[in-house]
Amino acid sequence: MRLLITFTAVLAVVSAQTASNRFPDDFMFGAATSAYQIEGAWNEDGKGESIQDNFFHNHPLFILEQNGDVACDSYHKYKEDVQMLKALNADVYRFSISWPRVLPNGDLDVINQAGIDYYNNLINELLANGIQPLVTMYHWDLPQALQYIGGWPNELLADYFVEYARILFENFGDRVKWWITFNEPHQFVEGYSVPWGAPGQRAPGIGDYLATHTVIKAHARVWHLYDEQYRATQNGSVGITLNMDWPEPETNSTEDAEAAERARQFVMGMFGHPIYSKDGDYPAVVRQQVDANSKAEGRPRSRLPTFTQEEIEYIRGTADFFGMNNYNVTFVTPGLRGHNPSKKRDTAVITSAPESLSWGLRKQLNWVATQYPGYPIIITENGHLNLGGRNDTDRIEYYTEYLGAVLEAIYTDGVPVIGYTAWSLMDNVEWNRGFTVTFGLYEVDTSSPNRTRTPKESAGFMAEVFRTKQLPNQYKQ
Ligand SMILES: *[C@@H]1O[C@H](CO)[C@@H](O)[C@H](O)[C@H]1NC(C)=O
Ligand SMILES: *[C@@H]1O[C@H](CO)[C@@H](O)[C@H](O)[C@H]1NC(C)=O
Ligand SMILES: *[C@@H]1O[C@H](CO)[C@@H](O)[C@H](O)[C@H]1NC(C)=O
Ligand SMILES: *[C@@H]1O[C@H](CO)[C@@H](O)[C@H](O)[C@H]1NC(C)=O
Ligand SMILES: *[C@@H]1O[C@H](CO)[C@@H](O)[C@H](O)[C@H]1NC(C)=O
Repeated sequence: MRLLITFTAVLAVVSAQTASNRFPDDFMFGAATSAYQIEGAWNEDGKGESIQDNFFHNHPLFILEQNGDVACDSYHKYKEDVQMLKALNADVYRFSISWPRVLPNGDLDVINQAGIDYYNNLINELLANGIQPLVTMYHWDLPQALQYIGGWPNELLADYFVEYARILFENFGDRVKWWITFNEPHQFVEGYSVPWGAPGQRAPGIGDYLATHTVIKAHARVWHLYDEQYRATQNGSVGITLNMDWPEPETNSTEDAEAAERARQFVMGMFGHPIYSKDGDYPAVVRQQVDANSKAEGRPRSRLPTFTQEEIEYIRGTADFFGMNNYNVTFVTPGLRGHNPSKKRDTAVITSAPESLSWGLRKQLNWVATQYPGYPIIITENGHLNLGGRNDTDRIEYYTEYLGAVLEAIYTDGVPVIGYTAWSLMDNVEWNRGFTVTFGLYEVDTSSPNRTRTPKESAGFMAEVFRTKQLPNQYKQ
């Protein structure tokens, strides 16, 4: 709340200017990465195996060219990473902590001091260079030891996650003021539905819903832990990052409008509604669809578990900000697709291939602000994928358009966006696609053991945007 008041005051001052290409003075700019995608050193200095290590080692056909064993070698090159962020004039660095680097078995039986030292060094290096850490606790690299007991569909995982979070608050909370519990749960619970993503458990429409249920409870417990035991001394903010490729109705028929809204509720609302909405709980349309389909399938219970009233109230309001990822737009119309049963089939929409359209970001920001009023929003990921090349004028165009859409959301629509971290600081292991597609502001030479980083044209462009907090003059909304 405190944040929002600060933001509103800033907004009132700034919006006195009419058309603006300037972001608010205290807007946070930066870049983002995640542990598995950049760190490498997958088994060094006592790190435990993660589900990503295990999955890509055992299923090499599911990843192109290179897995995350070495990645960008950021475990050894973090000081260079910080210098890259400094050259970008970044205010914040969004990175993730690898749970098995800190707790190799996921539990408190072994606390890996070398892992804690690594993140302490990174955090201290950032602060010494005037860059704030924005830390994701879970970016998809569950300790494999916890997958052996079932992973996220097992509700006990919430206990383990709370204990892990406590270790993070105790060790890093004096310096880390921004925490994200989970990155894109909609994406990673898919690992309990499809064979091609870790941990590759095929229980569509069941395992992914059980995982969803645990993740939401785990998030809420970690927020309460912070609120009750750390906020008074550490004074930080805790949120979650939810993603969506904005679903736009294919035509202006009522059916397509309903299909688009249903898709939004199944993707973002599934997690956003219990945590951020006034009423809490799963979105009504999600509850109805899954319950009705489960009944029609002759099941004695819904495939989607139910929160008690007490849980609904405990979970509701457990965030200090909303982390949002957006890349693209999809066009949707009603229809049955996917395995029976599955989340896709429960959603009952046909989705087009994604298209890169900046108005989708603006619409999505407006949707979030309307559904979940009262929360400052940080765009924790947004970026452009291409096949490489340092002269990335296409990426500069992408960022210009999307940042323009953010300005429109802030000034024209009054959406409280307080920060933006570009995906990504550097080219990295893009999950199944390895290094074959690139999102970086910096190029990483994966043919060299040195993993040499070189700025792309877009790095220079973003450094100027971040320094001046404005888009080039030719851009005015
Ligand atoms: C907490 O943070 C706010 C703003 O970030 C600051 O004004 C305040 O002094 C801080 N309080 C403590 C106890 O550090
Ligand atoms: C749909 O929108 C188009 C243009 O925006 C309009 O011409 C058309 O009449 C609309 N159709 C319906 C069914 O509302
Ligand atoms: C976004 O859409 C473009 C096509 O416009 C596509 O090439 C790209 O893969 C999509 N990005 C993501 C992250 O899905
Ligand atoms: C980059 O590409 C653009 C468009 O293809 C071209 O106009 C420009 O000269 C190139 N710049 C460099 C430094 O190669
Ligand atoms: C390795 O990286 C360092 C630091 O970036 C650089 O100075 C050096 O030239 C690189 N060596 C090779 C062989 O690329």
